[in-house]
Order: sequence, then C-alpha cells, then structure tokens
Amino acid sequence: MGLTIPEKRIPEDHARRVREMFARISPRYDLLNHLLSANIDRRWRRAVTKKLRAILPDGAQLLDVACGTGDLSIELFDNAQALVTGLDFCRPMLEIAARKAPQIRFIEADALKLPFRDGSFDALTIAFGLRNFSSVAQGLSEMRRILRPGGWVLILEFSSPVVPGFRTLFEFYFWRVLPRIGALVSGSRSAYEYLPNSVARFANQEELAEMMRDAGFEKVGFENLTGGVAALHIGQR
Ligand SMILES: C[S@@+](CC[C@H](N)C(=O)[O-])C[C@H]1O[C@@H](n2cnc3c(N)ncnc32)[C@H](O)[C@@H]1O
Repeated sequence: MGLTIPEKRIPEDHARRVREMFARISPRYDLLNHLLSANIDRRWRRAVTKKLRAILPDGAQLLDVACGTGDLSIELFDNAQALVTGLDFCRPMLEIAARKAPQIRFIEADALKLPFRDGSFDALTIAFGLRNFSSVAQGLSEMRRILRPGGWVLILEFSSPVVPGFRTLFEFYFWRVLPRIGALVSGSRSAYEYLPNSVARFANQEELAEMMRDAGFEKVGFENLTGGVAALHIGQR
C-alpha cells in the first residue's frame, strides 16, 4: 500500500490562467518547443510512439489528452497505426493543431471532465499536460475511467534530472536562460517563468508513479529520458 501524496494548494482560477497563457503563446509555441529543447522534444514524443507500438494492436482507439498544437497526436497518427483523437481546453492551441492535421479529430474539452463514457479508449497519452492541471489526482482518475480495462496510459512530463553535474547545468539553463529566450520569442515572460516553476512544484519520477498507483493504475513504471529531464510513465487500468 503506497503513501498518498497530498495535492499542493492551487488557486481557484488556475485553470483559466493556464488556458489564457497557452492562448497567448500559441502562435510561437511549436517554434519555442523545438528551439528551447534543441529538437529533443521530437525524440521524447517518438519514445511514446515506440512504447505504444509495442503494446497496442493496429487500429486501437487512442486519446491524446492536453494535445495542444497536436505534435504528439500527429506523431501517433503517423507512426502508431492508431485511431487518434486529440483533446485540449485551449481553442487557439487546437486551431493550430487542426490546421496542421485536418485528418485528425480534435475536441475542445476539459481533461478534468472528459466527455467520454467509461472504457472508451484502448490507450491514452498526455505530454507535458498533467503538471498544468488544477487537480492531478482528478485528472488521473478521469483518464483511468475512460480507459478500457487492460488499457494503458502513457504520461510524458518534465521530471527530475538524475545525474548531479548534469542536473546543475540543466537547472542553470532551465531557470536562467530559457525564460529569457522564451520571453524574447513569445513576448510572454511570465509563461516561460511559469515553465520551470511548474516543473519544480510537480512530482518527481517516484512521486508521479505513486500518484498513478493511488489513482488505481497497475503495472506502473517509468523510464528517464535525457538523464531524467523528462520521464515517460506507463500504467495499466
Ligand atoms: C505544455 S502544453 C502541451 C501540449 C502538447 N501535448 C505537446 O506535447 O506539445 C500543455 C497543454 O495542456 C493543456 N491543458 C492544461 N490543462 C488542461 C485541462 N484541464 N484540460 C485540457 N487541456 C489542458 C493546455 O491548454 C496546453 O495546450
């Protein structure tokens, strides 16, 4: 039996502020993702597809939660041989996704109240979305609800670098350099200050695994990506 990790206090208007922030940076979101990560974000998304291909039958029903501008949905559609739906609550992000991939169905909805019946999907993915939820526990519980029994969730999220020297270097970049470039290119300093702050507040690898178990997921595991800068968690309903 695991230790239940209490949710940190989150202001009531958090969801609205997150939605407005992503709306503001949406025109430059893709460019900055690739620029700030030196294109490593593409490799992280490919790791999700690779893992899913190994466990899902062709033609599986897949929901990409908090899909934003759709990069993971598109990667999954192209390479995981799955029927992909993308979902996000920020319309300007979704409009970009729909322009990039008119062949994919994108839905505007809140991940904390997913508009699907229990057991609707064979697999769910979420990339860099969970950390932004006003309740991570509720998000996990909703995702588990709409998975069919035996279905898988894959969570790609920033995490905690595990190599000490590299960690120091990365933190300097993440806290000092990234917000400046982000502000310059997107015009929103606060959005790119929010990024390291939200990662620092969020669970590390072990804590997220524990939260997934608390939400009822089984066979929970994770792999570190780029020395733990990100981690890919997996769990089964
Ligand atoms: C950092 S972006 C990630 C987008 C995309 N998954 C990617 O990998 O580039 C986070 C996304 O989560 C969405 N989001 C945050 N909270 C949400 C919620 N409660 N319901 C739906 N989408 C949410 C935001 O609108 C934003 O598009």
